[in-house]
Amino acid sequence: MKRNIILTGFMGCGKSTIGRLTSSLTGFEYIDMDMLIQRQHSMSVSEIFEVYGENYFRKAERGICKLCSLISSYIIATGGGVIKDEDNMHNLSRNGVIVYLSSSPGKIYSNLKHDNSRPLLSGGNKLEKITQMLNERTPLYEKYAEICIDVSNTFPENAAKLLLHEVMQISSIRASLEVNNENLHN
Ligand code: S3P
Repeated sequence: MKRNIILTGFMGCGKSTIGRLTSSLTGFEYIDMDMLIQRQHSMSVSEIFEVYGENYFRKAERGICKLCSLISSYIIATGGGVIKDEDNMHNLSRNGVIVYLSSSPGKIYSNLKHDNSRPLLSGGNKLEKITQMLNERTPLYEKYAEICIDVSNTFPENAAKLLLHEVMQISSIRASLEVNNENLHN
């Protein structure tokens, strides 16, 4: 039996917005892995990258993934790079259904063009960076996902409903969703 819903996907694809909406539809609590790391350090992700470097951030991210295997009834928004580490995905999938929210480079760019909070996209041509990183990572997002939802042209409210519909088809988590929210079918 699995008891969490894990949202993966590239930076700026809408994991937090869709995660919060899915949380309100299910009664599962919403958490964001980057927020937890930021709170632990009282620093933004950009500051952590700048002061301690990316490897340090990835280590903190691995620690949070381990913790996530121990909690239940959560919608967990991951950082976009979580899929680069096989152990992370092993830990997350122990108690969670992995959902990949896929989006196009153009949509991601339009979501992030005025955003300076992603250190891996700072400097240079942002659209090119997004396109290149997305090409590299897409096989990994797809490899680990039990459910893939294309959110490029979908309103977040509809994406959350679709996500829930798809998750309900997965028998290993259906029961825990039903326990949490008797109104799911209404
Ligand atoms: C990263 C994604 C970010 C954050 C960090 C690294 C990545 O999270 O974890 O900047 O490697 O894709 P979001 O996907 O929430 O932006």
